Amino acid sequence: MSKQKIFITGAAGFIGSHLAHYLHDRGADVVGLDNFNDYYTPKLKRDRERRLREKGILIYEQDLSDRERLECIIDKEAPTHVVHLAAQAGVRYSLTHPELYIRSNIDGFLHLLEACKKNPHVPIVYASSSSVYGRNEKVPFSIDDATDSPANIYGMTKKANELMAYAYHHLYKIPLVGLRFFTVYGPWGRPDMAYYSFTKAIFEGTPINLYNFGEMRRDFTYIDDIVEGISKSLEIDTGNHIFNLGNNRPESLHTFVTLIEEAVGKKAATNLLPMPVGEIVETYADIEASRRLLGYEPKTSLATGIRRFVDWYREYSSTAIPN
Ligand SMILES: NC(=O)c1ccc[n+]([C@@H]2O[C@H](COP(=O)([O-])OP(=O)(O)OC[C@H]3O[C@@H](n4cnc5c(N)ncnc54)[C@H](O)[C@@H]3O)[C@@H](O)[C@H]2O)c1
Repeated sequence: MSKQKIFITGAAGFIGSHLAHYLHDRGADVVGLDNFNDYYTPKLKRDRERRLREKGILIYEQDLSDRERLECIIDKEAPTHVVHLAAQAGVRYSLTHPELYIRSNIDGFLHLLEACKKNPHVPIVYASSSSVYGRNEKVPFSIDDATDSPANIYGMTKKANELMAYAYHHLYKIPLVGLRFFTVYGPWGRPDMAYYSFTKAIFEGTPINLYNFGEMRRDFTYIDDIVEGISKSLEIDTGNHIFNLGNNRPESLHTFVTLIEEAVGKKAATNLLPMPVGEIVETYADIEASRRLLGYEPKTSLATGIRRFVDWYREYSSTAIPN
């Protein structure tokens, strides 16, 4: 079998950089693309890039908006597989910057699909999100549930990506797999996410905001489990599929904060606040189909994952204070 060459968009991002290490360490050729935007501190993206470069993994600094350039890069690299993770992430930011989401998530994915359609045998795995479930109130969220009531612009763009994938598969027979990630966390994670900002605040002794008075429940999924799920999706070379990649174990914000406090060795100061607009009270994944069809099996408990994150944070922030 010839060597796999995997092109990862968003490779300087949290999930993309972990995936690049994982695939490289298992013998694949990996090349990335990222625009290194400043939605959160670009220094963290540069530090991830530096670690990848030490292994010989290169990242093109390129925005998805330049369709011609994107096409040139893909033609030149001639990947056997594409993993599309570049996107404008974040629910709250989508309330104030909706145009960024249309540009990166919808136009960006369109440009990638257009660049790939002349090689329709190359499978594409792309990031969707639990946010597509929007205002769906039935838990756990199943891939058979309706996803036509988005609660915010971010979720809307991810749903649009799934529809675009459907159309491109129908038209060109490109093998496509959409992965609905549920709150991914871990070392080298995103400063805009609660686990990161809570940890930082607890270390620094500043108060944290607990929305919906701490009564939110989330399916926290450890990065290594997600990366294994993405890797298994790369084995699919036909059809158009969607899978949930979550943990199937919802945890309350209170438990989450207690685990961070234990790992940090310090109590949090908390502000209990009402539910913000666009947020969802409880999300957790039905992963039966992912288990059965992908062999996906999340293994990392929240206590273990949080401990690993806090250990990384302690070390990283002692050498560089991000954000
Ligand atoms: N982390 C989670 O909990 C989570 C949950 C659901 C879905 N997702 C999705 O998974 C994917 C990866 O998320 P992440 O947590 O690694 O986020 P991330 O922000 O760390 O990574 C995304 C990367 O894409 C890059 N990027 C953004 N817009 C771009 C553009 N127009 N052109 C080129 N590069 C661009 C960013 O610079 C960033 O490095 C995203 O599609 C995100 O929406 C993540």
